[in-house]
Amino acid sequence: MEELNQSHHSDLVLFINGKKVVERKADPEITLLTFLRRKLGLTGTKLGCAEGGCGACTVMVSRFDPNNNRVIHHAVNACLAPLCSLHHCAVTTVEGIGSVASKLHPVQERIAKSHGSQCGFCTPGFVMSMYALLRNSPQPTIQDIEAAFQGNLCRCTGYRPILEGYKTFTKDGGCCGGRGKASGCCMTTVHKEEPVNGDSTHSCQQLFNPEEFKPLDPTQEIIFPPELMSLGKQPPRSLRFTGERVLWIQPSSLKELLELKAVYPEAKLVVGNTEIGIEMKFKNLLYPVILAPAYIHELRSIQYTENGIEFGASVTLSVLEEELREAIKKLPSYKTEVFKAVLEQLRLFAGQQIRNVAAIGGNIMTASPISDLNPVFMAACCKLTLMSKEGKRILHMDDKFFTAYRKTAVKPEEILLSIEIPYTRKGQYFSAFKQSLRKEDDIAIVTCGMNVIFQEGSNIVKGIKLSYGGMAPTTILATVTCNSLIGRQWNDEMVEDACTFLASEVKLSPSAPGGMVTYRRTLTISLFFKFYLTVQHKLAQEHLSVEDVSPNSASAIEPFHLDSPTSVQFYQEVPLGQTSDDVVGHPVMHLSALKQATGEAVYCDDIPCYENELYLALVTSTKAHAVIKYIETAEAMAVPGVITFVSAKDIPGSNRTGPAVYDETVFADDKVTCVGHIVGAIVANTQAHAQRAAKLVKISYEELQPVIVTIQDAIAKQSFYQPVRTLEKGDLSKGFQESDMFLEGEIHIGGQEHFYLETNCTLAVPRGEDGEMEMFVSTQSASKTQALVAKALGVPASHIVCRVKRLGGGFGGKESRSTILSTVVAVAAHKVKRPVRCMLDRDEDMLISGGRHPFFGHYKVGFKRNGKVIALDVTYYSNAGNSMDLSLSIMERALFHMDNCYNIPHIRGTGYMCKTNLPSNTAFRGFGGPQGMMVTESWISDVALRCGLPAEQVREINLYKQGDYTPFNQCLEQFTIDRCWEECMNISDFHHRKAKVELYNKQHCWTKRGLSIIPTKFGISFTAVFLNQAGALVHIYTDGSVLLTHGGTEMGQGLHTKMIQVASRTLGIPTSKIHISETSTNTVPNTSPTAASASSDLNGMAVYNACQILMQRLEPYKTKNPVGKWEDWVNAAYFDRVNLSANGFYKTPDLGYDFQTNSGRPFNYFCYGVAVSEVEIDCLTGGHKNLHTSIVMDVGKSLNPALDIGQVEGAFMQGVGLFTLEELRYSPQGYLYTRGPGMYKIPAFGDIPTELKVSLLRDAPNEKAIFSSKAVGEPPLFLAASVFYAIKDAISAARAESGFTGPFRLDSPATPERIRNACEDKFTKMCPPPEPGTYTPWDVRV
Ligand SMILES: Cc1cc2nc3c(=O)[nH]c(=O)nc-3n(C[C@H](O)[C@H](O)[C@H](O)COP(=O)(O)OP(=O)(O)OC[C@H]3O[C@@H](n4cnc5c(N)ncnc54)[C@H](O)[C@@H]3O)c2cc1C
Ligand code: FES
Ligand code: FES
Repeated sequence: MEELNQSHHSDLVLFINGKKVVERKADPEITLLTFLRRKLGLTGTKLGCAEGGCGACTVMVSRFDPNNNRVIHHAVNACLAPLCSLHHCAVTTVEGIGSVASKLHPVQERIAKSHGSQCGFCTPGFVMSMYALLRNSPQPTIQDIEAAFQGNLCRCTGYRPILEGYKTFTKDGGCCGGRGKASGCCMTTVHKEEPVNGDSTHSCQQLFNPEEFKPLDPTQEIIFPPELMSLGKQPPRSLRFTGERVLWIQPSSLKELLELKAVYPEAKLVVGNTEIGIEMKFKNLLYPVILAPAYIHELRSIQYTENGIEFGASVTLSVLEEELREAIKKLPSYKTEVFKAVLEQLRLFAGQQIRNVAAIGGNIMTASPISDLNPVFMAACCKLTLMSKEGKRILHMDDKFFTAYRKTAVKPEEILLSIEIPYTRKGQYFSAFKQSLRKEDDIAIVTCGMNVIFQEGSNIVKGIKLSYGGMAPTTILATVTCNSLIGRQWNDEMVEDACTFLASEVKLSPSAPGGMVTYRRTLTISLFFKFYLTVQHKLAQEHLSVEDVSPNSASAIEPFHLDSPTSVQFYQEVPLGQTSDDVVGHPVMHLSALKQATGEAVYCDDIPCYENELYLALVTSTKAHAVIKYIETAEAMAVPGVITFVSAKDIPGSNRTGPAVYDETVFADDKVTCVGHIVGAIVANTQAHAQRAAKLVKISYEELQPVIVTIQDAIAKQSFYQPVRTLEKGDLSKGFQESDMFLEGEIHIGGQEHFYLETNCTLAVPRGEDGEMEMFVSTQSASKTQALVAKALGVPASHIVCRVKRLGGGFGGKESRSTILSTVVAVAAHKVKRPVRCMLDRDEDMLISGGRHPFFGHYKVGFKRNGKVIALDVTYYSNAGNSMDLSLSIMERALFHMDNCYNIPHIRGTGYMCKTNLPSNTAFRGFGGPQGMMVTESWISDVALRCGLPAEQVREINLYKQGDYTPFNQCLEQFTIDRCWEECMNISDFHHRKAKVELYNKQHCWTKRGLSIIPTKFGISFTAVFLNQAGALVHIYTDGSVLLTHGGTEMGQGLHTKMIQVASRTLGIPTSKIHISETSTNTVPNTSPTAASASSDLNGMAVYNACQILMQRLEPYKTKNPVGKWEDWVNAAYFDRVNLSANGFYKTPDLGYDFQTNSGRPFNYFCYGVAVSEVEIDCLTGGHKNLHTSIVMDVGKSLNPALDIGQVEGAFMQGVGLFTLEELRYSPQGYLYTRGPGMYKIPAFGDIPTELKVSLLRDAPNEKAIFSSKAVGEPPLFLAASVFYAIKDAISAARAESGFTGPFRLDSPATPERIRNACEDKFTKMCPPPEPGTYTPWDVRV
């Protein structure tokens, strides 16, 4: 205290990548990530979410532990780590372990060479998670790797290649770690074991060669700085860091901490900052005094007591986990029931990076109603020791500890000192369960701890505690139920009564926050039932129960754990005779992959700051439909560093904007039409100041009616954009007359957030002359950005240059919506005449930029008894949002795909685009196609259920044949669905698998398996004909090097790599001589967006064209000097004054379709594919496991099998997200709740099918595209519907057991909630859904 009263500022001392850094004015509000990126220019560490949910910011933090005299290395999220918490730490970033320029680290090399880096934005995070793991355990197991990656997300790769690359570090190595194969890796054995269709020439090659990899040499790693080691041995001294708004105090002793807490009772104790960091960043809370107890030994101590283990409140979750594991090994099993339950909760608790820093005390004191540990601690009645200056106080965690939402019985001047987790006794059983949307790194929907103790030697309940999280504003105990069970025997009668008591005691209001009310209520009962079975089994083992759990119920109590995935890829090798210089058809690594793995690859926000650069933060609407009455900026302008507020009146050109029609504004002028509508922007000297000020801008609204949020609202109000499209062929009434049976049905398909790991980013640099502006943008549409910026600024397009180096993912989300940010930033830069930058925070990006269109389909289908469909009348409604954007083309593509792969003689599709008060929805991989086909598969599955026929049989008899015509009268030539189908049946071993599924379902009551085969056909071309053009520019320099530019942008799909392969073959030179620097509007003008899967086709042909022109020009010099080299010919031509620069151009021939006449060709060709998936569902919780997927995809003659397989797997996993996981949740007023990875779940490692086979169809050249290849970006996405329909198949099996047969509605995504609710049983009956219309729900399906 004495020292602190002198109000001194401490110096913060840390090491970064081996170099000492002394920060004299460390600001408590600055995170390590901001410090690395902005202050040190170490931009390899990326910002993906700022909330610890994506892992892009992972670094390794090393500390010296003087008590144990050892150095501890941890992977940590730099976005949540306060800089001030790193005093005397060593930080290692991706730049610190290796570089392309010097020496690659094996961790960097392997992820790149195994094709585990596509857009690369997630890659440094994976590299650092793996690096930290290897520093602690140089030969990890596969399970170690999976655990290390729980906190890392990748949106591009589908994870398989990352895992495969890194499995080479495990003891067994190889692609599968040798799992289950006596002879090692499955790659070497699968070919022999699984001949495909008896075809010996079918090849399965490795996509990379592990023998090329440099070995890991742990002795070569950076050492921990000796200076920190000696500093760590010295007694701690109090620290004090003062920022603009926050004081950070790190006391040196417990006494000092308690004195400080007495002085500052409102001060927060910060350990991991995983809760406080979120509150400060996203909940706009400010804690002016922070007490960091990092030095307080008592808070980190672990002691074994008579009753249990006492953990200091600052013990991190990883240490807790480690200690409990050790205790379980040492102690008799009956004593460790609670410990095992804590471990079970920790297994699914956040990611490793969070667990490494988050403290047990932080979890308790946050008092979150969905805390995973508190229900366990409450059910176990843990002892808590509190302390203040006045002394200690003991409390037990019971139903009085949590007093209200996020409030506890701990007094402001007290701290939590420790928690004692008790041993259990003989005759006591304990379980914990957690149900979340995603299996890993997800917060709970319902979580619980359950504790029962029996009278000695009996099955009579002596005491029971059931504690639930997620069922009230606090963690609760079901006291009434528990009391009524005391003295009861543990038997079927008891469980029936207990469930009834629980259903009436643990209730939720129909409007309860979090929604899913029926599901959550059902879960409380279902989870208790699981506990019942678990205990019954244990009692039986101890001969205390009359009956053991019946064999067909046993699976309900098996832990729903996943096996490690294995995979295999098949592709055709290049023909014999193709020269080794010709790399077309080879699995060439993405040419930026190594740079991406080392952090050297530059993304938009990595561009170094200009000296006078400013930062922009958006001000957006909080109302869905309102008139702006006034905007008050005075308070915002008073924030230090603020330069200006920009709004509609600052636009020198036109405020009207939009990609297809100008029906939007750059800034709202007088009216807002969605929450998130951009009203203005603050420009300030730093991001922190701009964002702080933006939150202080006050907007007064007059709300307008109606507020249309859902498709159903729009239908009721007839709120549609025009035109309403219809596509019709045949004679519907005749078709229905010819049918034996009819059915009608509906399906709703939810939207999807792009979740590119790199959010939208723009840097606008005014050039000072003639209104010129240089724009650095993360966009798929350089030309559209240029055009719309020019329009807003009122200058000719020729004065604007838009430059794109690479994108950290796009998926359609940066096709048109990126311009809403670019134009705003350009207007601001124009106003202040200085460079302005803005990279959206994840929550802003999710709020304003729209996503995939939700669709609702209604259908009437007529069919024969054998399942042959004769007539279909289908109506599609899409939720387009508050502007047209690309909705018309998206609806048209949905209609073009309403047949999927089925020949329906009489068909009509009608498409309505709903105009709603949501942010405009936009392009997303598949562009309406997946939604169109999802409806198709829904009715075909209904037909099969109605006919009582196997779904695969109904699908097969309806399949098109070569030469058939689509509903839009395009002939199906080079048709390969039949071949894909047959091969997929074979590689998945469909019939055998199906027999096994049927047997499994007979033997298992509470888990069911399902199987499905789904085909897809995807039309390739932009449906807007004019976009089917591309340009390229090729320069040859006199040293023989080639600079290639084309109209496409690189966003991870490997387009630049493929274009270099094309140029390399055409010019006849190695790829190393060819360079692509960037995409820019001043090299190739009027480019089409990089979209519609057509970029390799279009740009590839343009590159080919340019290279051919150059080769013609060089031909005379080659002829003159046939033994010369490339450089000789180039030089000769140069001295002969030959132009060594050429433009290439291509337009797709014979395109054009007319809806009025239903004639013409909308597509150049079609891509085909088939997938088989098998799943297992847990009928009690609604969880599911993806057990198997086989995919056969026709990609023509692959330009690059590694990239193409990467696209197939990446698209498939995105589809798995779309159809089983990802749910955007809106309030009835149009407010988006799901604004980050915390609430919005994209697939993670645990969602990869346990067994994944991917085969590129062999001998399928496509004469319509460059070097006989085919497009690949979008077509495979829909194959993930095979997982959805496998789930539906499994649900059908469950329903059949409860007596429900025939078609039933299952909306997409098939979340645990939908799966559980569809598996109707005695428990769901106890929790009937609230009567619609009698309450206002928390969320609505849009
Ligand atoms: C990405 C992510 C995933 C998450 N996943 C989960 C999950 O799966 N399950 C789950 O339950 N939680 C989860 N959380 C929540 C959070 O990680 C935990 O609650 C964590 O244990 C908090 O610990 P901390 O040390 O980081 O807390 P901090 O943020 O440092 O502090 C949290 C609160 O506890 C108080 N506090 C801390 N120590 C003491 C003490 N000794 N005495 C008094 N008050 C104290 C602080 O003042 C503060 O109010 C997640 C968080 C993130 C960011
Ligand atoms: S940026 Fe840190 S976890 Fe996402
Ligand atoms: S490569 Fe992982 S997010 Fe793009």
